[in-house]
Amino acid sequence: MQQIYLDYNATTPIAPSVQEAMLPYLSEHYGNPSSTHALGRSAMAAIDDARGRVAALLGADRDEIIFTSGGTEANNLALQGMLLRDVPGRSGHLVTTEIEHPAVIEPAKHLERLGIEVTFVNANRQGVVEPEAIEAALRPHTRLVSVMHANNETGVIQPIRQIVELCHANQVLVHTDAAQTVGKIRTMVGEMGVDMLSLAGHKIYAPKGVGALYVNRSVPLEPVLCGAGHENGLRPGTENTPYIVALGQACSLVRKALDESADRMAMLRDRLWGKLRAEIGPQLGLNGHASERLPNTLSVNFPGAVGAQLLARIPELCASTGSACHSGTTRVSPTLAAMGVSPEAARGTVRLSVGWYTSEEQIDRAAELLIGAWEAVVDA
Ligand SMILES: Cc1ncc(COP(=O)(O)O)c(C=O)c1O
Repeated sequence: MQQIYLDYNATTPIAPSVQEAMLPYLSEHYGNPSSTHALGRSAMAAIDDARGRVAALLGADRDEIIFTSGGTEANNLALQGMLLRDVPGRSGHLVTTEIEHPAVIEPAKHLERLGIEVTFVNANRQGVVEPEAIEAALRPHTRLVSVMHANNETGVIQPIRQIVELCHANQVLVHTDAAQTVGKIRTMVGEMGVDMLSLAGHKIYAPKGVGALYVNRSVPLEPVLCGAGHENGLRPGTENTPYIVALGQACSLVRKALDESADRMAMLRDRLWGKLRAEIGPQLGLNGHASERLPNTLSVNFPGAVGAQLLARIPELCASTGSACHSGTTRVSPTLAAMGVSPEAARGTVRLSVGWYTSEEQIDRAAELLIGAWEAVVDA
């Protein structure tokens, strides 16, 4: 059976040129980048080259890019590295949101358990975190605000620039988890004004297990792991040369393709929405803001249906739901719940996310299969 993969927000396949670029670093270029001999130097040169490519995609300087094992580690480094500084007294305050990925929510809760004050700001009904709500949460001892650039489930893009302006006016630094936006929309750190930004390789056609944190050089961050002085002293451990090379190549690819691929993804996403809506009618709900949205993401709730049951009827289609089943009970997505989406609508939600290798034929087939499954469920 030919799979139709509409789950690019979960992960992407590895682009052929990315795989090609990394392979020599799994074989002949095996030197430790810290070694001063020829094999070490060639590995370090490849890492430097990759660092330049990541920096170019973000409009940053090379020395502001810290390679990590992925988006989760980048977020942990940003939050813990900032809030656990000057440990005695631990007087800092962190502001984040209820719609963050667990890769931010959980480190924030961990900090809370360590005695640090954390405020979780909610999003509005359209899934947007209002800058005024962030401003209202600031305290004199707020050290960091962390708001994701776009949500992984709804694709809603957050007003980061305005949030940064309000925070900087209060001398508060801003981190953004851009795992879902890098490579899909512009993510130039200078334009956004952010002080730190996380990205994940496997959302941009690089392998899983590599990512990066942009840290503006004026930010006083401390490492979370203890070890040698790699990555500007912020992330100890021998660098994962092949994956870093892959990430660099992926950043160059997405940078070149950005505008064109955004237009194409939006066309595919809108085609899918149009077909579903034409058959199912206006009761088919769209989760999140209709226009401030990633070009590739469609989070829809099917009336009278459960997303997981719909997908179970369509083994050909790879997509995600708005709820998770654990030991027989259904837990709706915290993001959808925080936005005020009803439990029924959250249970009926399917997230469809397109990418580089999605074709129009696949969109048409996916629409046909989803409509068929929905009709079968509501008729049953
Ligand atoms: C918004 C967001 N942040 C962070 C992550 C975690 O990234 P990684 O899987 O590289 O740790 C993801 C991945 O699902 C994500 O969507």
